[in-house]
Amino acid sequence: MQLKDKVILVTGAASGIGRQTCLTLAAHGARVYAGDIDREGAAETCNRIESAGGHASFFQLDVTQQDAWRDAMQAIDRKESRLDGLVNSAGLMVVAPFQETGFELYRRQQTVNVDSVWLGCQAAQPLLAHAAAASGGAAIVNLSSILGLKGGSMHAAYCTSKGAVRLLTKALAVELGKLQIRVNSVHPGLVETPLGLGSLRDMIKHGAPLPTLDAGVNMIAKRTPMGRAAQPLDVANVIAFLCADESRYVTGTELTVDGGFSAH
Ligand SMILES: NC(=O)c1ccc[n+]([C@@H]2O[C@H](COP(=O)([O-])OP(=O)(O)OC[C@H]3O[C@@H](n4cnc5c(N)ncnc54)[C@H](O)[C@@H]3O)[C@@H](O)[C@H]2O)c1
Repeated sequence: MQLKDKVILVTGAASGIGRQTCLTLAAHGARVYAGDIDREGAAETCNRIESAGGHASFFQLDVTQQDAWRDAMQAIDRKESRLDGLVNSAGLMVVAPFQETGFELYRRQQTVNVDSVWLGCQAAQPLLAHAAAASGGAAIVNLSSILGLKGGSMHAAYCTSKGAVRLLTKALAVELGKLQIRVNSVHPGLVETPLGLGSLRDMIKHGAPLPTLDAGVNMIAKRTPMGRAAQPLDVANVIAFLCADESRYVTGTELTVDGGFSAH
């Protein structure tokens, strides 16, 4: 994949899909900026990249704060004068019955999962446009979910957020195409990360008929044509493709990465 020397900012870089995306992009030669509210976790991601001979910088970035985005873009502009890619992976998942999901929790879900993507895309557009004008293209990849395509019990707030990310992605693909900025969403099923496994734990806590976490993972695996839940690398490889030159004519698409779970 053509990623060598591309400057790419990944949010949620301290854990799960975001961390693996940083490692994968760097392994293909990208210069990675790892942003997360968890500064130590983002630093650990960068340490792993640098130990493997790659290029990475980290900073603390609360994706819900417009000022933090502005500071991040200024820092990247000073060092690189360009941004070839933005991967919006930071997120959280509220799991609770609809009637027990208070409005504050619902708002928090939208702030972290949707407002963040809005703010990030808006802040990054000038640097992405600059890179696209110089090299022919730039890319935004937004993490949605199969729960942005279909409903899920106890996931009303999360589904609302991921459905919004799906359509925000398409609206930006339409508007930014003329700037050669591609905008795509990725829709994983269950990925074995703190967020993915935590959501199963929360479902059990709220009475889902699963005796243990392992039973929950096995149930999903059985319902998945490929016979297993995803690992972060399964998703990171797809994100890397959407950042790379090989996907230069792909924009506005929703790419499902769920082992066939949602195909039936
Ligand atoms: N794991 C799954 O099963 C799954 C499935 C579908 C979609 N997704 C989506 O993929 C993305 C990544 O999920 P993951 O499984 O890697 O989760 P994760 O919990 O492993 O990592 C999420 C990261 O986001 C960071 N974060 C949270 N709030 C933040 C904020 N305000 N500012 C900056 N960083 C913040 C956390 O510190 C953490 O490092 C999320 O958007 C999630 O909704 C995950």
